[in-house]
Amino acid sequence: MSSVTSTPTTKGLEGIVATNSGICYIDGDRGVLAYRGIDVHELADHSNFEETCYLLWFGRLPNRSELENLRERLAQERHLDPGIIQFLRNVPRTALPMDVLRTAVSALSFYDADQKNNDHDANVRKAIRLTSQIAMIVAAYDRIRKGKPLVEADRSISHSANFLLQLTGSKPSATAERALDIALILHADHELNASTFAARVTAATLSDMHSSITSAIGALKGPLHGGANEAVFRILNTIEREKADPVDYVRNMLAQKKKIPGFGHRVYHTEDPRATHLRVMSQDLGKASEQPQWYEMSEKIEKFVKAEKHLNANVDFYSASTYHVLGIDDDLFTPVFAVSRISGWTAHVIEQLDDNRLIRPRAEYVGPDYPNHYVAIEKR
Ligand SMILES: CC(C)(COP(=O)(O)OP(=O)(O)OC[C@H]1O[C@@H](n2cnc3c(N)ncnc32)[C@H](O)[C@@H]1OP(=O)(O)O)[C@@H](O)C(=O)NCCC(=O)NCCS
Repeated sequence: MSSVTSTPTTKGLEGIVATNSGICYIDGDRGVLAYRGIDVHELADHSNFEETCYLLWFGRLPNRSELENLRERLAQERHLDPGIIQFLRNVPRTALPMDVLRTAVSALSFYDADQKNNDHDANVRKAIRLTSQIAMIVAAYDRIRKGKPLVEADRSISHSANFLLQLTGSKPSATAERALDIALILHADHELNASTFAARVTAATLSDMHSSITSAIGALKGPLHGGANEAVFRILNTIEREKADPVDYVRNMLAQKKKIPGFGHRVYHTEDPRATHLRVMSQDLGKASEQPQWYEMSEKIEKFVKAEKHLNANVDFYSASTYHVLGIDDDLFTPVFAVSRISGWTAHVIEQLDDNRLIRPRAEYVGPDYPNHYVAIEKR
């Protein structure tokens, strides 16, 4: 029987290069992550989320007026159609924020002035709108499910500060704003991760931006991808509640052949460079908020998993304790990942559509031999 593929399959497409892209550079052996060639450590130290969005969407750093213009445009988009707010009020209060976000983002297309326009400029406008709106949806749904009043957007403050304001009802401290901003920079893009690949596959059919982002959110939700940060915190919380020993708890998980969320990576064979920043943030914010226990537990788990399994912490491990001490509920951790990753997803959709070809790989057929014949039901 002839094979349909010309190269051997790799389970999970490991090591397969599936596209050319000018957005994100990763060297998994040296632990390098860079957006448009700029190391993410430099961006985390010196940039801000709006500037990082500009870099991802337009391919270079903005000058002052370009940055001001983008800030202004993002701020102007800080409004949700009443139809979206009504939808958020109608969903069952038990609905998971990530599921609500997925459906709400799909519904945003009904209210988008560029809904039927798939050209480059329209997609940049949609990227800006979606970046503002996704943050607002996450904040608004959390308040609605808790029976709290919605908070007016403040167009004079940064994206991160406005998100925390609309989520908590009060303006964040400079430390909290900067911490979230760094987390958003670190999560903004990561080459062909599963959700970005899903977004590009959808875009490549000449579907549209909202469909692509809806696909991406569905992919991000899974615990092998963005859902890992929530899973990490559930473990930390159980250890705290049961007053368990963190190392014994994780050792027991490994004995049961369970994977430890927040460890391991398909691409990095050394430390995930994002974890380097998040570890420090988790420790500093934990101390400042007088909740050092989350970092302390995390550190013990990290040391043990590294020694026992030679696995490094990934982006999700220390983001869990960081978000918790910022006052963010654990089932919002993955939506907060989306609040950042929308910048990278949209950059990839724009890049895909600027030079598009349908993404349609093949499968190596391993089913019953051909020809296999139909048997009438009474003879089976
Ligand atoms: C990220 C991840 C999905 C990458 O998966 P992958 O490249 O397909 O790697 P595999 O799942 O095949 O793992 C390779 C080996 O390491 C082990 N391993 C990988 N991650 C592990 C983890 N978190 N805990 C325990 N063992 C792990 C696997 O059991 C496997 O061991 P084996 O060869 O003895 O069977 C995987 O490391 C994982 O599930 N991590 C936990 C979830 C997570 O944190 N996801 C967020 C990623 S940013």
